[in-house]
Amino acid sequence: MSVNSTQTTHITPVTQQEIAQNWQTICHISDLVANAGICALVRDQQIAIFYLPEDNSVFAIDNYDPIGKANVLSRGLIAAHGDELVVASPLYKQHFCLRTGRCLTEEQHSIRSWPARVTGTKVEISAP
Ligand code: FES
Repeated sequence: MSVNSTQTTHITPVTQQEIAQNWQTICHISDLVANAGICALVRDQQIAIFYLPEDNSVFAIDNYDPIGKANVLSRGLIAAHGDELVVASPLYKQHFCLRTGRCLTEEQHSIRSWPARVTGTKVEISAP
């Protein structure tokens, strides 16, 4: 599907109860870069964390690009796709939804995403 397509399929988000169980602090808000990503190592997994200061929101997805086969997504550019935010891989430019990890161009390559939030000055994700 093209990134410019108006057709959008949304993935069901996890429940509030599921989210509440596994919140863990991964870094401080000052570790983040405005309107860009950083990479965090959480239990030996590379997770790309994106920070939008405009509404103090954070997003957490795999750092691994399954199409380029490299840990690079934290270095991708953030873009808007309708009401959703996506990151464009720095390798082959596929777009991954920041909220769901869905690959908009090749759905068989969708990646994991985790609920993420800012609590005070702490950045937390809910990861298994
Ligand atoms: S689920 Fe539609 S772009 Fe994220």
